[in-house]
Amino acid sequence: MSYNVNEKGFYGDFGGAFIPEMLYPNVEELRQNYLKIMQEPEFQKEFQQLLVDYVGRPTPLYFAKRLSALYNTKIYLKREDLCHTGAHKINNTIGQILLAKKLGKTRIIAETGAGQHGVATATVCALMGLECIVYMGEIDIKRQAPNVARMKMLGAEVRPATSGSKTLKDATNEAIRDWINNPENTYYIIGSVVGPHPYPDMVARFQAVISSEIKHQLLEKENRENPDYVIACVGGGSNAAGAFYHFLDKKVVKIIAVEAAGKGIETGESAATSALGKIGIIHGSKTLLMQTDDGQITEPYSISAGLDYPGVGPMHANLFQTKRAEFLSITDDEAMKWGLKLSKTEGIIPAIETAHAFAVLDKKKFQPSDIVVINLSGRGDKDLNTYIDYFKLT
Ligand SMILES: Cc1ncc(COP(=O)(O)O)c(C=O)c1O
Repeated sequence: MSYNVNEKGFYGDFGGAFIPEMLYPNVEELRQNYLKIMQEPEFQKEFQQLLVDYVGRPTPLYFAKRLSALYNTKIYLKREDLCHTGAHKINNTIGQILLAKKLGKTRIIAETGAGQHGVATATVCALMGLECIVYMGEIDIKRQAPNVARMKMLGAEVRPATSGSKTLKDATNEAIRDWINNPENTYYIIGSVVGPHPYPDMVARFQAVISSEIKHQLLEKENRENPDYVIACVGGGSNAAGAFYHFLDKKVVKIIAVEAAGKGIETGESAATSALGKIGIIHGSKTLLMQTDDGQITEPYSISAGLDYPGVGPMHANLFQTKRAEFLSITDDEAMKWGLKLSKTEGIIPAIETAHAFAVLDKKKFQPSDIVVINLSGRGDKDLNTYIDYFKLT
């Protein structure tokens, strides 16, 4: 069984491109060209060079000594927090901006939740001298204020999404609306492995550099390519897709995906899609989705803006359905506690999204000889105000 996308754009039962007719020419143009362009030597040369010189790759695979001693197992952290702009999101925006240029597009739009994808998009637009508009939910604009300021400094326009829960889902709706109205000159840089085919596959391929590096680095450090566990948080699922990509068909590697339980799965204030979701269509993709009995999307909730999404990408829906990955849900309180614990144990302040992944250490029992890789998707600078309020740090 393959866990990758098939020729029709599906991962098992999930994926596809369920889009309004007005979007068809744009999505089809991308579908017909993305693999061809990505495989061109000239494209690969520029992409790889920027990953090295601009993003700062390869990111370290850091052996977390104190954490390992605490849990009596071998814990490695893949340091995506050390990427330029502070998270994995830039791996994907570098790839997509090069693709947009090849397609002759001059105006870039994006959605953002935590603001990391917005900042990464604004950054590559500045780098390439292209116009940039970022849609962001009103609530996220407030809770991720430092990232809003960064986007503005980088020359992007930030447009608030004021409908629904005023978070990531609503920002995505606005971005899609914009694309429908500006089909000719506009390229939509989606920030996760969501949306209509080919986006989930394309974003996963750009993020796959994470697991490619893990393999090489583990070989050097441990004399073997495959860890026993790879763990990542899942909002839409792009950092997880990147961290899992080269291990999907390696059954010896256990895969753990971590979702946001918010205030608790049963409270009605959660974003735990695998626990609560049913098959549905969101943002052009057939996937698992939190919804009411009559198919209306349930408003999600998580303290972390980047996990506050009512669906997961189709790759993850398939990993869940086929049981290839184990899915765990972590509450706001558990994640926040880990934000502080990682800071004090390893001197690394994680993004709140990322802190969810670490809470798995309290949920699973690992053997002393196990190699456990946690994808440290981003740094916590953007979340300082939330940490300050939660822990009353001032
Ligand atoms: C640091 C960080 N981690 C994780 C996520 C979740 O996104 P994804 O599931 O696409 O990796 C975000 C989203 O903004 C983020 O900023």
